Amino acid sequence: MIVRLSLFERMLHALHLLPSPVLDGFASVLYGKGLALATRRGIFEQCSRGPQPLSSLARTTGLDASALEILLMSLEVGGYLKVSTRGYGLTAESRRWLLRESPHSMVSLLGYFETLHRRWNALEVALEKGRPESPYYDSFGEEDWRLYVAAMYELARFMGPYVLPRLTPPPGAARLLDLGGSHGYYAAACCRRTPGMRATILDFPGSVMWGRQIMAAEQADDLLEYLPADLFTMPFPSDQDVVLLFNIVHGLTPEQNVSVIRRALDALREGGKLFILDQCLEGKRRSDLARLIPLMVGLNLLSEIGGRTYSAEEIIAWCSAARSVRRRRISLPGVTLIEAVR
Ligand SMILES: C[S@@+](CC[C@H](N)C(=O)[O-])C[C@H]1O[C@@H](n2cnc3c(N)ncnc32)[C@H](O)[C@@H]1O
Repeated sequence: MIVRLSLFERMLHALHLLPSPVLDGFASVLYGKGLALATRRGIFEQCSRGPQPLSSLARTTGLDASALEILLMSLEVGGYLKVSTRGYGLTAESRRWLLRESPHSMVSLLGYFETLHRRWNALEVALEKGRPESPYYDSFGEEDWRLYVAAMYELARFMGPYVLPRLTPPPGAARLLDLGGSHGYYAAACCRRTPGMRATILDFPGSVMWGRQIMAAEQADDLLEYLPADLFTMPFPSDQDVVLLFNIVHGLTPEQNVSVIRRALDALREGGKLFILDQCLEGKRRSDLARLIPLMVGLNLLSEIGGRTYSAEEIIAWCSAARSVRRRRISLPGVTLIEAVR
């Protein structure tokens, strides 16, 4: 994390004597850019071979040694590097999140954040108009899709252990439909846990192309089939036991959500379950982290596609055609799971 305030600094902050806009408006924005760049230029991969002197990091990354030193020192302050007489080495934090081969890797996600950093230059336009000039998918080339799907996969892999135990299929479940399922992580995990279950992933062709490759590498491709299509124009396959609508609601308008949720419920057999996962707006009783994540996701979605985040109550109201709806608590700040039974 960017800084841990000392006791004295926390006291100053409590007295409103520490100018938090300097940290929030200057240091944290620049830090995020530096961290993403350091990851892309291979600093952490290089340090995974053991502590590295400045000169060797400058040579392998192609960065100016004196300029790089400032970046490395700031990564040390944030807890991503440690310095010894032998050079710069990894910390537990960077070893876990910032190495490509780590099972917890967020390397692609940071690469995707760089795309977002550029996009946020037009945040003001989106705030004025309530939507961006054009949805971000419109400008995606193959490489953008690859990075996006890989980033979503990393997030799903992180959230999976919290979410998957709550995805309880109805008895005898054999068919699952994952709307906007992208990488297919959740669908494949459900199939693996439920003998005989097979899943269909419906997503844009650009997303399906890379999702297929990720699932082939995970040896899950025989569990899945793909519908490369727009979910607004493609009729949903019927008689499903489970439908997943994960991280989709926040990209749609309320009217679109009412329509997609109704169609998702219609695609289920009697007793089938629709699971909706999203970042829901939270009241003041929740932690700042649980409240801020959905707000930042909402602001980002506004700039990406004119989306926003909603409260769990709003989403539950859109499930009025269901026989029963309930919120299932998961212990991840800012993430909400809703289960609706047809
Ligand atoms: C934020 S990602 C979520 C991916 C996955 N469900 C997850 O939770 O990790 C949103 C996904 O929805 C897909 N998507 C958004 N709008 C869509 C549409 N109109 N038709 C098909 N797919 C769509 C995107 O391509 C993307 O893969």
